[in-house]
Amino acid sequence: MINCKTNQFLEDLHHYVPGQSIADIKQKYQLNQVVKLASNENPLGPSVVLDEIKESIDAERYPDTTGLALRQALASQLTISPDNIVCGNGSDELMTMLSQVFLNSTKSIVTADCTFSVYEFVASTCGAKTIKVPLQDNTYDLGAILDAVDDTTSLVFIANPNNPTGTLCSHNEIELFLEKLPSNVVLVLDEAYIEFANESVRPLASQLLHKYPNLIVLRTFSKLYGLAAYRLGYAMANAELIQLINKVKPPFNVNSMAYEAGVKALEKSEFIKKSLHVNEKGKQRLYQFFNELELNYEASEANFIYVELNRSARDFCNECLKHGLILRPLTSFGRPNAIRVTIGTESDLDFFETVFKSVWKV
Ligand SMILES: Cc1ncc(COP(=O)(O)O)c(C=O)c1O
Repeated sequence: MINCKTNQFLEDLHHYVPGQSIADIKQKYQLNQVVKLASNENPLGPSVVLDEIKESIDAERYPDTTGLALRQALASQLTISPDNIVCGNGSDELMTMLSQVFLNSTKSIVTADCTFSVYEFVASTCGAKTIKVPLQDNTYDLGAILDAVDDTTSLVFIANPNNPTGTLCSHNEIELFLEKLPSNVVLVLDEAYIEFANESVRPLASQLLHKYPNLIVLRTFSKLYGLAAYRLGYAMANAELIQLINKVKPPFNVNSMAYEAGVKALEKSEFIKKSLHVNEKGKQRLYQFFNELELNYEASEANFIYVELNRSARDFCNECLKHGLILRPLTSFGRPNAIRVTIGTESDLDFFETVFKSVWKV
């Protein structure tokens, strides 16, 4: 029995539940083909392959501490300054840094009751409380979130589009929210899936950032750009807030390959166009499939669909695993009868439909 003086908050931590791995399922069920539609990765693969970046990596050197080249490339696309950007080892790491900057055991965060679990996780590691506001019609209830903010609240986390429901708060809704949010509370707008959302209504981060110094926008290269394994995300905010994050940023948190891949990925307009096209086509096909089975689903602004099964999602997904299909039961999100399906390629969806139908009938 170890007897160390651990962080007192560890006892209450609920570990993040990741999607299952293809290799594990192949081995467990002795399968040749496994399709994973569980972690909202890009089904087309990476936007940048290793061969494209290997020449520019000096593996014996430490990475650039701030990733200046990537921040400059992002800044010119987003019409902000590189001083408004800090990069992280995935946007997950930026959430950890935010908890270090803003939270302790006297503070709280406010978020939704059915959303990305890392918000609560990072708050718990510092002993901060998480106030969870129920979704309304599977969408963030911004009015109720404002009502839930109190003197202890340092951060509000909004996933936009929301994971797992795929719903979006519009530019106007977010702006109205920011108008009413006390200026000493920071809104963390997590835009991991924003590139998939309807352009005419989604928030314009650069416009909002110029107006609201208490806004932090998080983005990632893990989804649209297909670079989840590299671990690369970034935060955009007022330069003073970025400086605060830089105070806790580990000096070499992002590796050189990720920085190089990020710069290259921003130039891949054809890949991006194709990814969005495949996503839209797959989404319409899945809507039709769920309509035929008379299953309720949420219209999605992301690269996944939330579906109500009206039966145990865990049992259903476990059965699908035996046939080589990895889906995400939403039990850990507090929705034991719902699943989340990542939108795949045509052949992924052929496989999905075949397995889904056969398991559904059993
Ligand atoms: C809403 C949301 N935010 C952030 C992330 C994490 O992204 P990253 O891979 O950049 O850590 C995810 C990953 O699934 C997510 O769903």
